Amino acid sequence: MSKYNIAIVGGTGIVGLELLKVLEERKFPVNELRLFASAGSSGSSLKFKGSRFKVQELRRDGFKDIDIAFFAVDSRISKKCAPLAIQNRAIVIDKSNAFRMDKDVPLVVPEVNPDAIKRHKGIIASPNCSTIPLVMVLKPLHDYFRVKRVIVSTYQSVSGAGLKAIQQMEKQIKSKIPSSQFSIRNWYAFNAIPQIDSFGSDDYTAEESKMIRESLKILNDYSIKITTTCVRIPVYCGHSESVNIETDKPITVATVRRLLGKTKGIKVMDNPQEGIYPMPIDVAGKDDVYVGRIRKDPTVKNGINLWIVSDNLRKGAALNAVQIAESLIF
Ligand SMILES: NC(=O)c1ccc[n+]([C@@H]2O[C@H](COP(=O)([O-])OP(=O)(O)OC[C@H]3O[C@@H](n4cnc5c(N)ncnc54)[C@H](OP(=O)(O)O)[C@@H]3O)[C@@H](O)[C@H]2O)c1
Repeated sequence: MSKYNIAIVGGTGIVGLELLKVLEERKFPVNELRLFASAGSSGSSLKFKGSRFKVQELRRDGFKDIDIAFFAVDSRISKKCAPLAIQNRAIVIDKSNAFRMDKDVPLVVPEVNPDAIKRHKGIIASPNCSTIPLVMVLKPLHDYFRVKRVIVSTYQSVSGAGLKAIQQMEKQIKSKIPSSQFSIRNWYAFNAIPQIDSFGSDDYTAEESKMIRESLKILNDYSIKITTTCVRIPVYCGHSESVNIETDKPITVATVRRLLGKTKGIKVMDNPQEGIYPMPIDVAGKDDVYVGRIRKDPTVKNGINLWIVSDNLRKGAALNAVQIAESLIF
């Protein structure tokens, strides 16, 4: 089997570290591994398959002979450095927001729109960590019932804001009351913050707008109406979403359970009478997108409510990126 030269830009971040784990677990055929981060991490090392690999500061010539470059950095760095990787004929799989809405860049969830990968011109974008589980669930329902309108409220974990945010929350938990050391908008502990990313002129946050625009691009149907509210809550890992779905055709709970139950990458965990439903605490570390609390919405003609939980670092980030890479090579 061929082996590939792999670079991870942002290898020391929370997504970069998960990428290393997923590549190892899934036995991705790695020949050479190059890890890049900021100058501050240069000289440190990270473990992969029992060996230690040096972390380097990203250089212009860093992508020579690289086949696949995973970018797990801020979108400004992706914008600046992904072109360097492409000039060296590497294929870029980008976890940031830098290229997602670019019409020449496929935005891919392999279970939902695998064919889009074939249209890449050097960059493939992996969607936002809340968009991925949403479209995984919407796709089979849209194919069967035709989804007309979706109302989503998210409950997003602190790991979604990166490694530093986790460290901040741990300090906050210890100090218990808000201190001037942190802005109140970054006070994760014991809080629910209805702002993820900055506000646009329409008073939606960038996270909310991203979820809407990305979902429509992936589902390739701009007739679906989607509205979102994104909230950060003090959970370490695992994003939850409360989703109300209105469809064109009559929808039943039994058919929703059956359709989702046979969809690859989704697990239905739904027995309310026994108190069974997914929660971040059991879903963290797992690959599947979990769905529960499936119930009829009696206030509209054809509607249901459901609850989605998925690990934002795995399917929401690293796993989806590695699955994209697997589609390129297998
Ligand atoms: N966290 C999630 O759940 C999640 C999910 C989906 C997508 N994403 C996206 O994935 C990307 C990474 O997020 P994260 O949560 O992993 O953030 P993070 O934990 O803050 O990690 C950021 C990474 O970027 C590196 N970096 C910073 N400045 C750099 C520079 N000038 N050159 C090269 N590397 C540099 C950091 O290196 P140092 O350690 O040296 O500072 C670190 O490895 C972001 O675009 C984010 O939006 C995150």
